[in-house]
Amino acid sequence: MSPSQNILLLGATGYIGGTVLEKLLQHPLAADFKISTPVRDPVKAEKLKAFGVTPVVADFQYDLDMLKTLAKDADVVFSIADSSNLPAAKAVLAGTKTRFELTGRQTIYIHTSGAGAIADCTVLGMHGNGPTWDDLDEVQMASIGPTQLHRAVDLEIFSADDEGYIKSYIIIPTTIYGVAIGPLVESGIQKPQTTVLPPLIAASLDRGQAGMVGDGKNVWQNVELRDVADLYIVLYDAIITDTMTAHGRSGLYFAENGTHELVQVGEIIARTLFEHGRGKSPKPTSFTTEEGVKYFGPLAPLIGSNAKCSANRARALGWKPTKTTSDFLACVLDVATSYASAGKDV
Ligand SMILES: NC(=O)c1ccc[n+]([C@@H]2O[C@H](COP(=O)([O-])OP(=O)(O)OC[C@H]3O[C@@H](n4cnc5c(N)ncnc54)[C@H](OP(=O)(O)O)[C@@H]3O)[C@@H](O)[C@H]2O)c1
Repeated sequence: MSPSQNILLLGATGYIGGTVLEKLLQHPLAADFKISTPVRDPVKAEKLKAFGVTPVVADFQYDLDMLKTLAKDADVVFSIADSSNLPAAKAVLAGTKTRFELTGRQTIYIHTSGAGAIADCTVLGMHGNGPTWDDLDEVQMASIGPTQLHRAVDLEIFSADDEGYIKSYIIIPTTIYGVAIGPLVESGIQKPQTTVLPPLIAASLDRGQAGMVGDGKNVWQNVELRDVADLYIVLYDAIITDTMTAHGRSGLYFAENGTHELVQVGEIIARTLFEHGRGKSPKPTSFTTEEGVKYFGPLAPLIGSNAKCSANRARALGWKPTKTTSDFLACVLDVATSYASAGKDV
């Protein structure tokens, strides 16, 4: 490991990526980090310079050559932008391959997938049965279907690790909650809010009644934003100190620290809208098929799915998340209250 680390961070302006960037900037080795980050908003790119990172204005939809070039120079990639963008992933991997061919050095590739990869979308909110996925169970993890959400990118990354030019580590977060705070948010660089709760609240406001898929009996898990960001750092520290840290097809790390049924979320939103005169009843009702399509498009079955898992591999590394489901439900109440009381359209 060279004393100076070239880090490529994708997603620095995002909800998760901004919080990970903040933690990297506070890392004990931060003085040795040279962090580059492609950002599509030139104003945010300019502001990022004040944090000692090197922004490059780029959009992954168009600037794949730029991604390749950036990846060619990276010792470490933190990929926290778009879990399903296969062309972008291929471009980054191509850059790491060139680096390996030129230097013989493997890139550390820490990627973000999502629990949609294990979601059973046939459930449609009617029950919470089905498997709990264990990231230490390599046979079970290998059985994730190739058409599952995010899986095409994850499979591409496994192949690159198999070829040997990267060592890959994939974090699989469940529902992330909590408002991002800190200097990147205050500077108008980082998005403070998760992309998960607002669409559900927006749909509920639009129909004047909190909604859920089916009976909302389906089970997901949750994890708080700063706990997730800690996992990236715990994993990075493990990788640089222990060459045996599980990677490739073994290197899958769920992030969860609590379980909830969708109906619990719906009940809080329903009560909150009702109390603010913006909902017809304090009980959530099922979205009709038409409403599911209108509000969530092809993702409606995902909202009614089961995605149960155990973050055993992350905990074995020493990851200690602190927030639990009661914090998640309190966050749902806060977000619902802020939108209902402000009369906001989300
Ligand atoms: N939030 C969750 O609960 C959760 C849970 C599991 C998995 N995930 C996955 O983790 C990933 C990040 O999630 P997030 O919540 O942090 O999302 P986010 O707040 O929307 O952040 C996404 C980041 O990626 C950047 N980005 C996206 N497309 C880009 C493009 N074409 N060119 C350049 N930059 C691009 C965004 O830049 P801009 O600022 O320019 O938009 C932003 O920095 C997503 O793929 C999501 O599916 C999220």
